Amino acid sequence: MSSPSAFVFDAYGTLFDVHSIAALAEELAPRQGGILSQLWRTKQLEYSWLQSLMLSPTRARDDFSALTEKALDYALSQLGIALDASGRARLLDGYRHLAPCSDAAAALEVLAPRPRWILSNGTQAMLQPLIAGSALAAHIDGVLSVDAAGIYKPSPRVYQLAVDRLGLPPRDIGFVSSNGWDATGAKAFGFTTYWINRNGLPVERHGSEPDYVLGSLGQFAALGW
Ligand code: LAC
Repeated sequence: MSSPSAFVFDAYGTLFDVHSIAALAEELAPRQGGILSQLWRTKQLEYSWLQSLMLSPTRARDDFSALTEKALDYALSQLGIALDASGRARLLDGYRHLAPCSDAAAALEVLAPRPRWILSNGTQAMLQPLIAGSALAAHIDGVLSVDAAGIYKPSPRVYQLAVDRLGLPPRDIGFVSSNGWDATGAKAFGFTTYWINRNGLPVERHGSEPDYVLGSLGQFAALGW
């Protein structure tokens, strides 16, 4: 396996653990923290896909920050959890301080000196403090938000942002995501794709398979580049 010249990482779920919010959710909604975290994430992604489909000249897209709030409100309502304004604000603030995935820093380090970028649905206002407040900051060369493309993943317009910024052909960019649907979208675009399948899930069936399936980011170290 030869190495791409640069790597582009998904943020939420791949470098940052979206379910690290479950501990705070459990404190605020005892016995429901895990399910709240799961449903919040599920609705957040669902809303991102729907908003891309519903884009029209007369209908603006909610950015990922607004959409994350709406997904939280839906999840709270479905689960019948009554949170006061301060509890809700704490959860939303928690999204700006998610824990990095335990295998992220070492993998980013192994891939140096190749450029290592983030390409995320998140807004720059969400991503910059998240990265700056983590141990990953020293290993990230730059951050791209879908906002520059005006649509969410897996639109090819989003993946094109990385090609334009890095000045490399898609095949020479390694795209890394733990989100199977994101890896499929990136593969369809033409990136060399690494799906981080931490949970042993089946491969998505709606497109070509990713080029590589790794059980964790830690497996980059074993490639011996
Ligand atoms: C992101 C979402 C897909 O960071 O997790 O783009």
